[in-house]
Amino acid sequence: MPKGDASKGELKTPSCRFCHGSNGIASQASYPNLAGQQQKYLYDSMLAYTNDMRIGPMATMMKGQLQNLTSQDIADIAAYYSEMK
Ligand code: HEC
Repeated sequence: MPKGDASKGELKTPSCRFCHGSNGIASQASYPNLAGQQQKYLYDSMLAYTNDMRIGPMATMMKGQLQNLTSQDIADIAAYYSEMK
């Protein structure tokens, strides 16, 4: 995976906060918390949505959230959430 930059990741996540929280803690019980999660896990999980390796209505929704992001953007976002306490 590309090396992630958490400060850049922060700038790429305004739309994510609505569901995953500004502190990485999800706003609803059915949404996953991202704060402090492993960086590689976050990166792989996001690629799994973009590659159709995760399926279902919520996976399709997540694919839409990520569709305009490059693998570098995704690495930056993974760094950002993994560094949250
Ligand atoms: C409308 C609410 C919503 C928005 C907006 C949203 N997400 Fe999600 N996200 C979810 C839900 C629900 C899941 C679980 C989907 C599934 O796999 O069933 C999820 C899953 C994820 C996962 C995988 C977590 C894990 O533990 O496997 C990551 C990473 C993630 N989202 C990042 C993001 C990022 C980055 C953005 C913004 C670009 C974003 N999400 C925008 C609701 C949202």
